[in-house]
Formats: sequence, structure tokens, C-alpha cells
Amino acid sequence: MSVVPARSEAMPRVVHSVVTLRKAVAAFHAKGERVAVVPTMGALHDGHLALVEAGRREAERIVVTIFVNPSQFAPSEDFSRYPRDFDGDLAKLAGLRTDLVFAPDVGTMYPKGFATRVTVSGVSEGLCGAMRPHFFGGVATVVTKLLNQCGADVAMFGEKDYQQLLVVKRLAADLDIPTRITGVPTVREADGVAMSSRNVYLTPEQRRVAPELFATLNRVAAIACAGGNVATAITEGIASLGKAGFGPVDYLALCDAESLVPVVRLDRPGRVLGAAWLGGTRLIDNVPA
Ligand code: PAF
Repeated sequence: MSVVPARSEAMPRVVHSVVTLRKAVAAFHAKGERVAVVPTMGALHDGHLALVEAGRREAERIVVTIFVNPSQFAPSEDFSRYPRDFDGDLAKLAGLRTDLVFAPDVGTMYPKGFATRVTVSGVSEGLCGAMRPHFFGGVATVVTKLLNQCGADVAMFGEKDYQQLLVVKRLAADLDIPTRITGVPTVREADGVAMSSRNVYLTPEQRRVAPELFATLNRVAAIACAGGNVATAITEGIASLGKAGFGPVDYLALCDAESLVPVVRLDRPGRVLGAAWLGGTRLIDNVPA
């Protein structure tokens, strides 16, 4: 996919204020056009572009939001060095005929006196929620704001962040947000590594090791689907990640695909989810089971 827009590809219109965003979306709606929103933190890769393409299949107009949300990073995490490439992002989006980019600043999203935090219990509590206690509160708060600000008909989220997708579905249902939340399958590199903006942190040696996470998830899923011993598969999976060169494994789990409650056998659709460290980079991934 070309990142340099051809001459005929118009750069998306960039708006920074909520008022301008709402006016633009209202103008689309007034013409009877449906609007899809793709919330992102920028540093766009083919996984994001697949969300835009999926949005295009659902709506006549595409809004992409680009905002590196400070409230979902703990002070010890990578907020300040998180990859940012606004011009490169616009060029990629131009290639996909994106109509609007909403790029608010921190003061627009969290003005002086901001005092609200959206907490989703249940589905946000285990897995990444247990390891990064600040994370889903920050995501739920910013996504609630973005959905309300945009007023889109449909919003696209990647299955790569499967727990995040379920958290967003829960908050949209609970808070009567009329935007339909749609999950889009994970886009992978040729060797199976899930695309992520944080993959740029990996050294060549770590990148060589990275496919073992997807391979491990698939092995656990195959054993679970065949009715095998899931606990043993998980123990062996953690050992194989360590042997391949991963550092600590935050979790490797078979869960119910809707509630994310851990299970040891599959009576209903399941999901195998994993998070593990390669040096200072934490990789997450998941597969259906
Ligand atoms: O998945 C992401 O990129 C972010 O968590 C999101 C949904 C844009 C909220 O900041």
C-alpha cells in the first residue's frame, strides 16, 4: 500500500475543535450520508488502514481521530516516546479517501476542571486490566468522549485489542451511545506478528522472536478446541515463550469470548489471549478458540 498520495488523492480535512467536527458530521448526515469513525492514536499502520477500509464498507463518510491519550498511560509508560507521525498519517489516509481527521489537543479533550472518569467493571478487570490498572479507565473515558463528540453511525475497533473492543461495546450499550461498535479482524505481518504501532520499538533480534506469541496462542487454541488439557497447554505455552526469548508473560489465558471469564473447556466460543514482554516492549495478541 502506497503511503505517498497520488496527485488525485485529496488530503483529508483536518479539524481540531469539537464544534467544527460536529458541524462537519451534521452536514454529512443532512445529505443522508452515514458516517464511520475510526479512533486511533496515530502512527498508522496497515491494521489501522484496514479499520478505515472496513468503515468505508459501512458508511459513505470516514472520520479518523488521532489523539495520543495521556490518561491511558501510567507515569512509568511510554506516553512521551509513543510514535507520532502526523504528516505520514495524513498521507496514508489520503490514499484511502478519508473525509475528516479529528486531531484535538490535550486541552480540548481534558480542559481545566475535567473531573470525570468512565469505569467499566467486569470485562475490564482481568488480563490487561489487572496488569495495567489505569488503562481501561483512560480508554473508556476518551472513547466515550470521542463517540459523543463525533456522533458517527458506526465505530471501528481492531480485534487485536480484543479486551478493549469488549470494554467499548459494554460502555456504548450501558451509556446509550447510539454509535454501533464494530470489531475488525487483526492484520498480521507475513510471519503472523500482529501489527501494532509499538512494533517499531523491537530490535531486529526481538522482532525475530515475536512470532512465537501468535504461534503459542494458536497451539493453546488448537488444544482447547480439541478438548485437550488447557492448563497444561498454558503452562507449556509460557515455557515456550521463555525459551524463544520472551521475558515475563503477563498472562496467557483461555477465556469466554464474551465475558472474558477464564475457562478450562469450551462450551461456548472462546478466545485465547496473551501479553508478554520482549525487552522493554509489551506485546499483546489473541486468537479465537
Ligand atoms: O486502540 C487505540 O489506539 C486507543 O486505545 C484508542 C481506542 C484510540 C483510545 O485512545
